[in-house]
Formats: sequence, structure tokens, C-alpha cells
Amino acid sequence: MNRDLKKEKQIAALEAVKYVRDHTIIGLGTGSTVYYAIEEIGQLIKQGLQIQAVPTSVSTQKLAESLGIPLIDINMVDKIDLTIDGADEFTEDLKLIKGGGGALLREKIVASMTIEEIIIADSSKKVETLGNFKLPIEVIPFASNYVKNQISQLGGLGNIRFIKDDIFITDEGNYIMDADFGLIKDPVTLSDQLNTIEGIVGHGLFINLTTKIIMGSNDSIISFEK
Ligand code: 5RP
Repeated sequence: MNRDLKKEKQIAALEAVKYVRDHTIIGLGTGSTVYYAIEEIGQLIKQGLQIQAVPTSVSTQKLAESLGIPLIDINMVDKIDLTIDGADEFTEDLKLIKGGGGALLREKIVASMTIEEIIIADSSKKVETLGNFKLPIEVIPFASNYVKNQISQLGGLGNIRFIKDDIFITDEGNYIMDADFGLIKDPVTLSDQLNTIEGIVGHGLFINLTTKIIMGSNDSIISFEK
């Protein structure tokens, strides 16, 4: 069956925006799915919605600014009421791989400050076991070879991300190492192991950060929550 993934992204995004409340702080994720949510929030702002938003990337910041969405510096807030973000893979028990767009570090910081983290996705993102999508890991350039070797000791193969001939540089000035661990049967342990490696500033395994996943499925939505 042919699935219209663009439509699935749109309906998931529109559903998530229903959770946006007046006078709240909203985290704005990054990517092609969140794009539709940000567009919709822009419409609601025109109709009088009052929120302040924390963007998770320079690209999201520019998009939000272009739509007249008021932004607030993340360091001016202690918590974020609701964040809407995307994912590259997710399992039904709310574990994610993120970072395909390279914004995982800011996304994880925003998620960590967020009370209600809603992930929106098309149905192609749902998997039984994480790991077909290579795990994005943000590393400081000085440590990249060391981190590659440490990843190898954990059974992974890491490669620095390139865009054409240039190394991809994150909004925080770091590299992304896309790491192939095969299917990740124990994401909690892998996450803990990666957290101990010097030079890794963030990785795309999001565990215990999500409160709800809204997935577009053909013309309807399916939600996953604890
Ligand atoms: C960016 C991300 C995105 O949320 C993820 O890549 C999903 O993007 P898209 O909605 O375009 O498929 O983690 O760092």
C-alpha cells in the first residue's frame, strides 16, 4: 500500500498543535514534520494566540521568525511547557533515535527542560527495534578520532557526517558522527555507555524524554503514550 508520508506528517503535526495553550512556553523542534506544526502555530499567532517559543535550531529559529512567532532565549526560562519535535525512528515504548537533521543536542536540552514532549511522525518512523537509522552522535572536533575508536569498542562503526565535500557543522560548532550499531537491542545501556565517553556532547538516543508520540497513519492518527 502506498502511504502518503507528507500527509501523515501534516495530520500528526496538526493534532499536536491542539495541545498548545495560551500564555505558555513552547519548544519548537526541527525537521520536515515539525515544519507543519510551526506553520500552524504561525497561523494561530495571527489569530491572537500568545506564546513564547524556544527554537531547537537556527533553521527553526528563522522559520519561526518568518512567521511572526515570538521567541524567547532558552536561558531566560527554567522550564518549557510543551515541545513538539520529530524523530527518525521510534518504538511503541517511546524510545527514539533523533538527529537526522543534526539538531539533536539542542533538541535534547529542550526536551530535558520540557514538561510535555510530543513527538510527531509519519508511519515510516515506527520500528520494532531501533537501529536501522544510523545513530547521530555529536562530538567536539578535537575528540572525533578518539570517539570513533570508543564507538568501535562498543561494537559500532562511526563516520563523520559530510554534506557533499564538507564536514557538517552543527549549530553548536561540533561534528556529527553517524554510528551504525546494527539493531540496538538495549538502547538504555547503549545510551548510558555513550554518556560516559569524553568528547561526546550528545547522542540521538532519547530515552524517558517523550510523553506522547502522535503518528500519522493514512488519514488518521495513532497515539502512543505511557
Ligand atoms: C533533527 C531531528 C528531526 O526531528 C528528525 O530528523 C526528523 O526529521 P523529519 O521530520 O524531517 O523526518 O531529530 O535533528
